[in-house]
Parts: sequence; structure tokens; C-alpha cells
Amino acid sequence: MAHDKVNQGQKDTEGTLTNRQGHPITNNQNIRTVSNRGPATLENYDFIEKISHFDRERVPERVVHARGAGAHGYFESYGTVGKDPVSKYTRAKLFQEKGKRTPVFVRFSSVIHGGHSPETLRDPRGFAVKFYTEDGNWDLVGNNLKIFFIRDAMKFPDMVHAFKPDPVTNIQDNERFFDFCANSPETFHMVTFVYSPWGIPANYRMMQGSGVNTYKWVNQKGEAVLVKYHWEPKQGIKNLTQKEAEEIQAKNFNHATQDLYEAIDNGDYPEWELLVQIMNDGEHPELDFDPLDDTKLWPEEQFPWLPVGKMVLNKNPEDYFAEVEQVAFGTGVLVDGLDFSDDKMLQGRTFSYSDTQRYRVGANYLQLPINAPKKDVATNQSGGQMQYVVDNAPSQNPHINYEPSFLGGLTEANQSGQEHTPRVEGNLVRQSIDRQNNTKQAGETYRQFEDWEKDELISNLVSALAPSDRRIQEAMIALAEEADEEYGHRLREGIKRAPKGGSSQKSLGSRAGEQAVQDAIKKGH
Ligand code: HEM
Repeated sequence: MAHDKVNQGQKDTEGTLTNRQGHPITNNQNIRTVSNRGPATLENYDFIEKISHFDRERVPERVVHARGAGAHGYFESYGTVGKDPVSKYTRAKLFQEKGKRTPVFVRFSSVIHGGHSPETLRDPRGFAVKFYTEDGNWDLVGNNLKIFFIRDAMKFPDMVHAFKPDPVTNIQDNERFFDFCANSPETFHMVTFVYSPWGIPANYRMMQGSGVNTYKWVNQKGEAVLVKYHWEPKQGIKNLTQKEAEEIQAKNFNHATQDLYEAIDNGDYPEWELLVQIMNDGEHPELDFDPLDDTKLWPEEQFPWLPVGKMVLNKNPEDYFAEVEQVAFGTGVLVDGLDFSDDKMLQGRTFSYSDTQRYRVGANYLQLPINAPKKDVATNQSGGQMQYVVDNAPSQNPHINYEPSFLGGLTEANQSGQEHTPRVEGNLVRQSIDRQNNTKQAGETYRQFEDWEKDELISNLVSALAPSDRRIQEAMIALAEEADEEYGHRLREGIKRAPKGGSSQKSLGSRAGEQAVQDAIKKGH
């Protein structure tokens, strides 16, 4: 898609090196100097263009999810959701017909670590999908895990600060991570996943995905239901123990990018099925959690996973920067038939994504081929750095870059179905939700883990918590005890017996006196 435009500069020159002005480069080895020993002259246009472009090669990395890999592919709809036609719940065009294909671009990522960090580190993984639909783009910006650390967007910058390196030493520090988590008990369910093997997926192909936040589907009559999206890998799910991850990391810190690239290059195209959970719109007082609380799973027995389509990734990017680095996903990017829920995290996220992208990529980031929809765009927006597309081109009168007008400018679209107009009322407040139940599902998750997953969880938590302040340890143990008696007991005993000093490196996933910790855990069991 994008590549004709990306490589435009080289097209006419048939392999001959030029500068960006189209001038042939006859000498790419030497700058222009007075005699071959210098000094150099200031009019060295070719050199100055080359070096000054190089000086600007990087844009700011994503403030989170900096390390990633991407691929192109397609989504194919089943036309149904479970036994029902999908139109019962949503009028979104991409889902309506069985077999209908929509092109996609996917970016997988790790979250906290920087742009070239090892892909073996303990972290959630990002799973962001851009659907280039006939109605414009839809971005489903998800993670591999189905829940999140916090439930209010206000806390996100603090959370990220605590998880990122210390502002003084620039060293990532488990004590800061657990200090935030111990003081934010809603994180405990996510911590239970992240410190288990689910915190290190073996690669990107063998991990699930989830939209995490709650959205709505809207049908032709304007009726809405709440939905959660999940991606299930056809390759199976595989997670790593800490030891396995360390062994890979010793030899290769790009293993997940490499795995994805090589699989696609070899024609072994990875596939995921898209499934949704559906709930009637409302507060659901019968549940012991709020359906809009993203720290909670919707129990599968009550809200079954219903398949709606599959996604195949079958083409590698041609240029990492143009596509994977500059791609911009956002939770606000929905198409007709899809809507927001009142999920407070989702609302906060929706401001943040396009805001950061106007800074990270630039005001006209949506004109880049990887971000532009594959359909005509007709806006009255103009100007800004790097504008090169005339957005109101389909208008009958290019002089009219405003609306409304008698003189032939762009006009409003017709509504394609009944608008969904939920009624909202209440006092304006700053309050957390009811039914917080911070540890119950963490206990259920712990009990559902296989024995080796429980062992890993305890061992990883003990190693990571051992060097922390006693108050942080106690608060984390109390959360584990509240979640599950055995979980709490094993964590308490493990920490009691672990060497206090820990290792000098306290970053996520590091080991504090590996053997001693293992011994302590066995004894505490
Ligand atoms: C990336 C903000 C929660 C998944 C980002 C970026 C920001 C951000 C600023 C960088 C975007 C860019 O530079 O293009 C937030 C805020 C959150 C939040 C404010 C909470 C209030 C979440 C949650 C998920 C998530 C709950 C999982 C569902 C992602 C993914 C990316 C990302 C996958 C990387 C997208 C890509 O590959 O380009 N987030 N985020 N975020 N976020 Fe969030």
C-alpha cells in the first residue's frame, strides 16, 4: 500500500543514488575539500543534506510501548456472532458479510522498556490493530492480557513513572514498581498475571490479545450492548519461565521481532480468531464487579466468548520507520456501529493517543500512508507542518474550505442508522467506582494457574520483592493473603527466607539470590 509513496524518491532514477532534490550523487565517499587534506567548504550541499537528515532520523519514541514489531494482513468476518447474525448487535460494515475481508496493520509491543530493549523482559505486551475499513479506520488498541493495572486514567502517568527507570539513577527499580502497586490495590490482579509466566509471552505469534476496556456495539435501531474483544492465536499460547527468558536473552534480544518477521517471510502466516463477550448495557448490580472496571475479567461461563472473524498476517513491512514507528493507533478511532462505553480508563486513553501522536509524529500524522484510511478523506483541515495532501479535494469548489456554504463546499454525511443516545445523569464528582473487589479475581486467577505457573509466580514475586522496604512487602503480602490463603502464605514465607540485600540490579524480572529464593520457596510451601 504505502510503499509507492514511501519510495517515491528513488522511482525515476533506476537505482542511481541521488540527493532528495533529485541531483545525482557522483561521490558518496568524500566531502568537498580544498585539496584532499581539507579544510572543507560550507557549500557542501550533498554532505549537509545527508548529515542533517541523519541528525533528525529519530522521532521521540512512544512514551510507552516503545519497542515493537508490525505486520500487514487482513481480517475476515464470519458474518455471525455465535449463532446470531452480527447485525443483531452491530451495524459496523466490516462484520456484516461472511467472508468479507478488511486490510489490517498490526503492531505488537512491550510496554515499559525503551526502544531497543530485550523482548524477553517481564511486561504486558501491546496488541494494536488498525482496520482500514470502507467506513474509514478502526483501531483496536489492546494488550495480550485481558485486564489492566488501574481503572482510572488519572493514575496512568504516576503508574508509568513508577514502572519506568528512577529519575535520578536511570535504573529501573522493583521497589518503585511495588511501592505504586502496594498503594494501589486494584493493581493486584494484573500483578498476579504479570509475575506469572503470562508476563513473558514466548513470542508475539503465540500470545492472546484483548481490547481490555469495554466498548459498545450499536445496531441499526441505535440499540447498544457492551462488548469486550479478544484475540485467540491459532498457533497456540506459549509463555516462558524466567529462566527460559534469560537463556534466550543471553543470545538474542530481538527474538520476538525476528520470530514474527521470519514466520511471515517463510509463508507461515500467523492467525488469530476475534471473539467478543457481550453484556446488556447497564450497571449490572447482580455482579460483584462493575462491568466497566478494566481490572476485572468477565466470567466466561456467564459471558461466553463468541467468534466473529479471523485475522491473518501475511506481509512484512517494507520500511520499519515509515510503517511500524510512525503508525499511530488510538482508542478514539471507531467506525459507525462501534461506540465508547463510559469506562473511565477508555475515556482518558482516548484523549491521550491522538494528543501524543500530534507531538510524536506531527500535526499531519494522519496523512502518512500507514495512518491514512484507504478511502477518500474530505475535511476542511489545512496547513500544519508537512501538509502535502489537499484534504477537501473531492469538494466541487476548492475555494470553499468551510461548512456550511451555498457555494459548493463539502457537506455533512447522512446518518446511516438510528443514533445511539444513552441517557446520562448524576452529580459531577471525583470518586472511585463501587464494587472494587480488588483481590477476589486475583485469587481465582491464582487458583486457576497450573502448579508450575504458581511456582513461577511466587518465585518471581519473592525475588522482586526481597530487596524492597518492609512496608511495601507487608502491603503486597496482605493483598496476596486477601486473594488466597495459600498465595499469601507462600509469598510471606518466601520473602521471610529470601536474602535481604537482593541483587544489585533490581529491575523487573531480575533475580535476587536465585538459589536461596528457590530454597526458601520450597521450604515455605
Ligand atoms: C500506547 C496512553 C492504557 C495499550 C500508548 C501511548 C500512550 C498511551 C500515550 C503512546 C502512543 C503513541 O505514541 O502512538 C495510555 C493511557 C492509558 C493507557 C493514558 C490509560 C489511561 C492502556 C491500556 C492498554 C493500552 C489499558 C491495553 C488495552 C496500548 C498499546 C499501545 C499504547 C497497545 C501501543 C500502540 C502502538 O503499537 O503504537 N498508550 N494508555 N494502553 N497503549 Fe496505552
